Amino acid sequence: MGIQCTVYPSHDDASRAVADCISTILREKPTCVLGLATGSTPLEVYAELVRRHQHTGLDFAGASTFNLDEYVGLPPEHPQSYARYMNEHLFGQVNVDRDRTHLPNTRADDLGQSAQQYETLVRSAGGVDLQLLGIGTNGHIGFNEPGTAEDSVTRVVDLAASTIRSNSRFFEDESEVPRQAITMGISTILSARKIVLLATGQSKADAVSAALSGPVTRDNPASFLQNHADVHFVLDEAAAALVPGHCRCSRTT
Ligand code: PGA
Repeated sequence: MGIQCTVYPSHDDASRAVADCISTILREKPTCVLGLATGSTPLEVYAELVRRHQHTGLDFAGASTFNLDEYVGLPPEHPQSYARYMNEHLFGQVNVDRDRTHLPNTRADDLGQSAQQYETLVRSAGGVDLQLLGIGTNGHIGFNEPGTAEDSVTRVVDLAASTIRSNSRFFEDESEVPRQAITMGISTILSARKIVLLATGQSKADAVSAALSGPVTRDNPASFLQNHADVHFVLDEAAAALVPGHCRCSRTT
């Protein structure tokens, strides 16, 4: 199967397509394990899932969730923590069992051990059925920045300068952006049975094109997705603008 790529006319259309993938797995396997992402890109996916929960009874009661990453140094109640993001945009608005929602614990005294425990927890839950990903303008997935090895597991990482700059839009000042995070590794991500990467907007066009058609290299962590058997890139026109023709992305109108 390898990489499948679909281009939608707009961010909203692409978001609905990703919500469809998540809805399908929730219906087919109510006890599924979802790997979840944060950032601005999946916001409309979560909003759509909340609408489906409210209007069509989309049921999260049996599902487990594992988020990709969390900043080091922000308490869970901080407006920019990923725990807060997930509570606001999904967990607090659907019927997921909060005991089965997981984010890396970045408040532990021993962060290395906390990261290892997270890796063990993901694997002991049976692995992720469907992993949702965004992509950084530098090709990162999760906080696996350029230079990350394919066999990397959940661990403490330093954020790249470009990521700090990019994420400073969510903070008052760049100096407030955390410098470290705990992130699932590339091998953790690749162990998911199915991966859906959502990318929208012109700023992602270079990274998307390199991930789909460039060499598989540590310089572009998203390129490791080429080694996975079931990855679906869901794009809008702007993010797909630089994908070469031989990649044969299908288009929907
Ligand atoms: P964004 O982040 O959705 O806020 O663009 C994506 C990412 O950095 O993975």
